[in-house]
Amino acid sequence: MSTHDDVLSKIRAALQQERDATTAMRQTVAALKSQLPGYSWVGIYLLDGNELVLGPYVGKPSPHTRIPLGRGICGAAAAEKATIVVDDVSRDTRYLACSPETKSEIVVPIMRGSDVLGEIDVDSDHPAAFDQRDRVLLEAVAALLAERLPVVER
Ligand code: SME
Repeated sequence: MSTHDDVLSKIRAALQQERDATTAMRQTVAALKSQLPGYSWVGIYLLDGNELVLGPYVGKPSPHTRIPLGRGICGAAAAEKATIVVDDVSRDTRYLACSPETKSEIVVPIMRGSDVLGEIDVDSDHPAAFDQRDRVLLEAVAALLAERLPVVER
C-alpha cells in the first residue's frame, strides 16, 4: 500500500513525461485507483459549456456521463469551485447514484486561475473514506492536471 505522498510523487513523475492530455488523465485515474485501496471509482469530468462530461475513469460504468452545473455533488463542486467531501452519500440530497455500493465521495475541481476546467471524482464503498490526506493529494493532482489540459476558448 502506498502512502499519499508516494502516490503524488508517482503521478507527478508520470505526468512530467506525458504531454498528451487524454493519456495524462488516463494514467492519473489508473494510478489513483490502483494505489489507494479505498478508491472504488475514480474518474475525471471535463467542463463543456454548462455541463460536466465524463472523460477517463476506472470502475463500473456510470449512468452520469453528462451532469449539468449545479446538479449532483459533481455539479455542486464545479459551481462552488471548491472541493466537496461527503462522508455518507445516502444523507446528501444532492447525490446522484452511480453504484449502490458507494458510501462516500470526494469531488475536487480542476482549476486554471478562476476557471473550472473539470474535476476529479472519487467514490468509495466505505463510509467516510476521505480525509485531509485525500483532499491534499487530489488537490495537488488537480493542479498537475490543470497544466496538461488544453485551453478552451469560451
Ligand atoms: N455521484 C456523483 C455522480 C457521478 S458518479 O458518482 C460517477 C454526483 O452526485 O454528482
